[in-house]
Amino acid sequence: MSKILVTGACGQLGSELTIALRTKHGNDNVLATDVRNPSGQLAEGPFEILNVMDRDKLFELANKYQITQVYHLAAILSAKGESDPKFAWQLNMESLIHVLDLAKDNKLEKIYWPSSIAVFGPSTPRINTPQDTVMDPNTVYGISKLAGERWCEYYFQKYGVDVRSLRYPGLIGYKAKPGGGTTDYAVDIFYKALEEGSFECFLSENTALPMMYIDDAIKATIDLMEADIETIKVRSSYNIAAISFTPKEIANEIKKLIPEFNISYKPDFRQQIADSWPDSIDDKKARHDWGWNHDFDLSKMTNEILEGLRKQLGL
Ligand code: SER
Repeated sequence: MSKILVTGACGQLGSELTIALRTKHGNDNVLATDVRNPSGQLAEGPFEILNVMDRDKLFELANKYQITQVYHLAAILSAKGESDPKFAWQLNMESLIHVLDLAKDNKLEKIYWPSSIAVFGPSTPRINTPQDTVMDPNTVYGISKLAGERWCEYYFQKYGVDVRSLRYPGLIGYKAKPGGGTTDYAVDIFYKALEEGSFECFLSENTALPMMYIDDAIKATIDLMEADIETIKVRSSYNIAAISFTPKEIANEIKKLIPEFNISYKPDFRQQIADSWPDSIDDKKARHDWGWNHDFDLSKMTNEILEGLRKQLGL
């Protein structure tokens, strides 16, 4: 039986992925960890406070709970990383090395670590960005993810660590809010549409970015982790895609359901980050190697979020 440790379990992805893993593997077999205390459904299973830079505590918890798999989600995202680049580098890199070492030393079954579209940069082909291409990230977050990808492949090749990874696009859900990302506007827009009827976007109206509904991201992660080891051909990180849209396009989709909704644009420093990332991603390797397929397009996602968020906010 697998015993799973999740880092960053209180985050946007962690809080939903942990619950999905508990449904699958049993509540007691999934240890949630974070630097802050859990709330809601997340608090109903095992939890420990863990700062991922604390190597000793990570090893101690892994031994105490006889952990066999780690989902290492804790990280500082693209926009926040720019306010303290050295700290973002330190946290994102050191924590990954600790987890890779843990996998090597304790002979873990496998580990999961997310990469991102932020590994690409201004010289990368923007449309249908290939799996293997120019990568010149210019955020500290993107630099740490690209270096992390190289470390993952290194640990796989040198030490046989079964590490699996996806380059997530912007993840959109409503149950937990993201923090410090460039794609976060596409979550905020739903809250503001329902609560205030208008939204000021920090990206310009025609900025296309690759995005994905959180349910698809969870499905992709679990499918990748359950795939037969022989089918995993990419040991850096897989390109993965679902939808691409601009702020104007998502606003128009929301207007179909909330006709009086209004959007205005006031680009800030995040515009430059978004401009350095792809518009869309070619993920045919993931679709071919382990059967990736997304379920949510823009309108299905918009309907689902507005309906769910209305209930959550009691509107
Ligand atoms: N959603 C992330 C960010 O905007 C990208 O991985 O930072």
